[in-house]
Amino acid sequence: MNWKDPIDFEAGNHGNKPFAIRVPALVVTRGKNDRLNFLTAMWFTPTGAEPSRMVVAIQKKTLTYDFLLERGEFVMSAPTDKMMDVVVFAGYISGHDVDKWQAAKLTAVKPSKISVPLIGEAIGNVEYKVVRQIPFDDGMDLFVGEVLATHIRKGAMEGELYREEANPLLYMGTKYDEQGKSMGKYYGHLKGVGKADYDSPLLKEYLSRPKHRPGKND
Ligand SMILES: Cc1cc2nc3c(=O)[nH]c(=O)nc-3n(C[C@H](O)[C@H](O)[C@H](O)COP(=O)(O)O)c2cc1C
Repeated sequence: MNWKDPIDFEAGNHGNKPFAIRVPALVVTRGKNDRLNFLTAMWFTPTGAEPSRMVVAIQKKTLTYDFLLERGEFVMSAPTDKMMDVVVFAGYISGHDVDKWQAAKLTAVKPSKISVPLIGEAIGNVEYKVVRQIPFDDGMDLFVGEVLATHIRKGAMEGELYREEANPLLYMGTKYDEQGKSMGKYYGHLKGVGKADYDSPLLKEYLSRPKHRPGKND
């Protein structure tokens, strides 16, 4: 194989982190005792167009895990950039120890399809019912949620795109010092939204060709 030596790269210590910049999720659940809880999640991925589903990995030690088994429903909320403290708090403290919903003073907004509330302060909320629970390892399971309803803050998005002036929180990751000690979590802001350059030579040549296997997700 005629390949170049990887002189432009160095080894990274943090696994999947080149893919880290995303909107974090607050996963809201409700116990059979009606208590509300939420955790911060980054181990999730949207999967499939119709029906649209979400796969989220939830650790067995969390209160969220217990509540998911109790009710089989959850809401995923996309925080605004004003909710940084709520995101850090919910990812650090467990509902086993603190009533996080009470402590964070979040506004419970009525959902349309399930019995778990939306977060009134969020930029978007999606209602899911659990359609599958997949064992992953000793510490966690994957939950597959089917989208039942989506609620976007007025003016924040146009179709499936965030408007440039919307302010979703973007999670960047943790910064570590040379001894590996955490120096805190980092966040980014949405800037520079733009259309793909369809005049690029690669796209110009290949996107106009008929497809052998036409698909829905062009
Ligand atoms: C940025 C970030 C992302 C996280 N992602 C997940 C995740 O996807 N799944 C998970 O089970 N825990 C995740 N955690 C850890 C939980 O948020 C944390 O254990 C929380 O305290 C559990 O809350 P609970 O016991 O109230 O459910 C994450 C934490 C942070 C800070």
